Amino acid sequence: MCPTLLSLLSLGFCVSLRIWAAVGKYEKLSLSAWPSPVVPLGQTVTLQCHSHSPLKRFRLFKTDGKRRLSELQGHHFNNFTLGPVTGEHAGSYTCSEAYWSAPSDPLEIVVSGVFQKPSISAHPGPLVQQGQNVTLRCHSLVMFDKFILHHENSTGHFQRRGEMLTGGYAPADFSIGPMTLASAGTYRCYGSLRRSPYEWSAPSDPVDIMITGLSKKPSLSAQRGPMVRSGENVTLVCSSESAFDQFHLLREGVNLGRHLAGGQSPRRALQAEFPLGPGTPAHSGVYRCYGSFTCSPYSWSNSSDPLFLSVTGSTTSTCPSIMDPHTTEEARLPQGHSRQLHLLLRLSVAFIYTSIFLAVLVCTGYP
Ligand SMILES: *[C@@H]1O[C@H](CO)[C@@H](O)[C@H](O)[C@H]1NC(C)=O
Ligand SMILES: *[C@@H]1O[C@H](CO)[C@@H](O)[C@H](O)[C@H]1NC(C)=O
Ligand SMILES: *[C@@H]1O[C@H](CO)[C@@H](O)[C@H](O)[C@H]1NC(C)=O
Ligand SMILES: *[C@@H]1O[C@H](CO)[C@@H](O)[C@H](O)[C@H]1NC(C)=O
Ligand SMILES: *[C@@H]1O[C@H](CO)[C@@H](O)[C@H](O)[C@H]1NC(C)=O
Repeated sequence: MCPTLLSLLSLGFCVSLRIWAAVGKYEKLSLSAWPSPVVPLGQTVTLQCHSHSPLKRFRLFKTDGKRRLSELQGHHFNNFTLGPVTGEHAGSYTCSEAYWSAPSDPLEIVVSGVFQKPSISAHPGPLVQQGQNVTLRCHSLVMFDKFILHHENSTGHFQRRGEMLTGGYAPADFSIGPMTLASAGTYRCYGSLRRSPYEWSAPSDPVDIMITGLSKKPSLSAQRGPMVRSGENVTLVCSSESAFDQFHLLREGVNLGRHLAGGQSPRRALQAEFPLGPGTPAHSGVYRCYGSFTCSPYSWSNSSDPLFLSVTGSTTSTCPSIMDPHTTEEARLPQGHSRQLHLLLRLSVAFIYTSIFLAVLVCTGYP
């Protein structure tokens, strides 16, 4: 009897311990920021305290990482809206059910746009073959202590990818790679100062890093061949047997834009036409095209073979070249005319003077 009671008691103890543990787990709070913990100056952010019971009221505290500095007032259930934010709102926050209960993990709220944006560039370029590396360089004319690199992928996931201390006006070089689909996306950098780590600059302009080489190359051709006379319409056609729904055209590595895949060629390949308008010598150069799928915008195919386009013969050119002999002759003509006229005028003046002199001589010589 005694052992049964003991085991029943211990069973009950175990069960209540489990329940206690489960409740404890549920009551572990977490704090999140919507739409993002990086908030542009003057905008608002909603901090949400997550727990098992959504209709409970919570308290929100600003902390310095260890101690609670202040409590924020005026909230609605588990949501706290901050803003329009100023530099004062930047910092670390926790929420808890009561002042003495366990707080959530701290959440850092960064206020961006406090300083001028830095610049970002990709080296050697924004198109990166699978497995290769790319360097993203953040640079600014403002003297920052730190650059922070952010990455946003095609599913809109926003993530801090790295940070680097800099000295003086030195740029920060972030190496990304070996390239996979997960590292492709839009990158931006921010600058910050040591004395206020949660106040950042405005974001740099975005740079889109594409991974290439996950699908087969398309083919690129010029509708009337690669040798075009100046003034003739130039249309380049990018086509592929893969079912790409977008094609991208680049000249000397510069993106000229994208076109949706249109009609089908006789060989049932999907294709897009890029009309470049009447050809000029400036259209000459090396062209390449890539295919991609709308559902995976940061993944481009392998590069097409290069197309060397040459626009020649300026028959309809309206800008005459300096070396054109025709033009130089015409330009000299009016000047030649005036010189002859000048000579004629001088001769006739000389003739009149001589005649008068002779007449006077004759009249006075014969009294
Ligand atoms: C809290 O804010 C989120 C995001 O704005 C919203 O979806 C949710 O309905 C809010 N909850 C309450 C209880 O107000
Ligand atoms: C890419 O960078 C890694 C280190 O991050 C290095 O080990 C590797 O050799 C680099 N690959 C190329 C192709 O440069
Ligand atoms: C975007 O990033 C998130 C988080 O890292 C990841 O779960 C998701 O699969 C990524 N999406 C793509 C398309 O890479
Ligand atoms: C892309 O090109 C590389 C280098 O030319 C080649 O090794 C790879 O197999 C190609 N990928 C596809 C999918 O065709
Ligand atoms: C070039 O194309 C435009 C419109 O596509 C057309 O109006 C024009 O006549 C064409 N010019 C030549 C020289 O074919």
